[in-house]
Amino acid sequence: MRYFITGTAGFIGFHLARRLLQDGHEVTGFDGMTHYYNIKLKHMRNAALAQFPAFRPVTAMLEDRKALEDAVAAAKPDVMVHLAAQAGVRYSLENPRAYLTSNLEGSWNILEIAKNVGIGHLMLASTSSIYGASPTVPFHETDRADEPLTFYAATKKSMELMAHSYAHLYKVPTTAFRFFTVYGPWGRPDMALFKFVKNMIDGEPIEIYGEGKMSRDFTYIDDLVESIVRLSAVVPSEENRVADTKVETLSHQAPFRVINIGGGQPESLLDFVDTVEKALGRPAKRKMLPMQKGDVPRTFASPDLLMALTGYKPDTSLETGVKAFVDWYLEAHRELDG
Ligand SMILES: NC(=O)c1ccc[n+]([C@@H]2O[C@H](COP(=O)([O-])OP(=O)(O)OC[C@H]3O[C@@H](n4cnc5c(N)ncnc54)[C@H](O)[C@@H]3O)[C@@H](O)[C@H]2O)c1
Repeated sequence: MRYFITGTAGFIGFHLARRLLQDGHEVTGFDGMTHYYNIKLKHMRNAALAQFPAFRPVTAMLEDRKALEDAVAAAKPDVMVHLAAQAGVRYSLENPRAYLTSNLEGSWNILEIAKNVGIGHLMLASTSSIYGASPTVPFHETDRADEPLTFYAATKKSMELMAHSYAHLYKVPTTAFRFFTVYGPWGRPDMALFKFVKNMIDGEPIEIYGEGKMSRDFTYIDDLVESIVRLSAVVPSEENRVADTKVETLSHQAPFRVINIGGGQPESLLDFVDTVEKALGRPAKRKMLPMQKGDVPRTFASPDLLMALTGYKPDTSLETGVKAFVDWYLEAHRELDG
């Protein structure tokens, strides 16, 4: 198969591209190499992907319609996976414009091109953040989820809605994934695991928000990739409508479905810190801080729809996943810091 993936210099895009290349597929990777975090990490990921002859990287921004059109025309993809975005909850307070251009205009360009080339399956990355501070757990895809607490979440929810209209009007089969705190080797430097491990190794304190009372449904990267690979074969259509109306989100107006990718096993932030300490074999200097603006107290995925469609749900233990991250970090950090 030929895949066109945006965001391949990023954490998730890199892992997905590598897995698909290992499986023998062709991958065109489109990434603007933004400077949101240490660009060296993006170059390192690109170098690892360049070892596969079937990988074709394109460096350009999503907002550059012509560059995106040309890249898709050259790739002739069967499937498009749109992962490139301005990610991160906190940074959306500082620089909302980056979210507006990347996540709204950029995603709209993807929709237009998917429509024009008549793509077989469009997959998009949304987020658990769109559930906001919903007190009802676990979060089901059928929940209303229309009270986002951050502009980041608002742009992702808007992307879902824009994509639904394109799926209806132009019959673009579309699956929107709601990811839940993804972690693992090659992970993002702005996320808690990376910051905790780095600071603990450097002997610096770690900042624990919400006095440690927050919880997150952590998803190990390999489990996430496995879920995406399985879902790429489940093109939304009436033929694969799930009988259980409590979980199914397949639209009655369009070949469009939203789906959680999370295991449904939330962990408290303090248990998470304990796990990191165990993996590193050293204690953290804990600096307790209140919840930050825009933080949500918990995330908790219902994996029922994912199970119904793929017979699979993420299940790697936090111990295993954190250990894998630490092993990678100990190898990679000199090159990253150098
Ligand atoms: N990692 C998580 O826990 C998580 C959780 C929920 C949702 N998501 C979503 O998953 C996707 C991938 O996230 P990630 O963790 O790999 O993030 P990442 O920041 O590591 O990767 C995103 C990539 O997109 C590129 N990019 C950003 N804006 C661009 C633009 N306008 N044009 C071209 N390229 C651009 C960046 O250079 C980067 O390499 C994102 O859409 C993110 O919002 C991630």
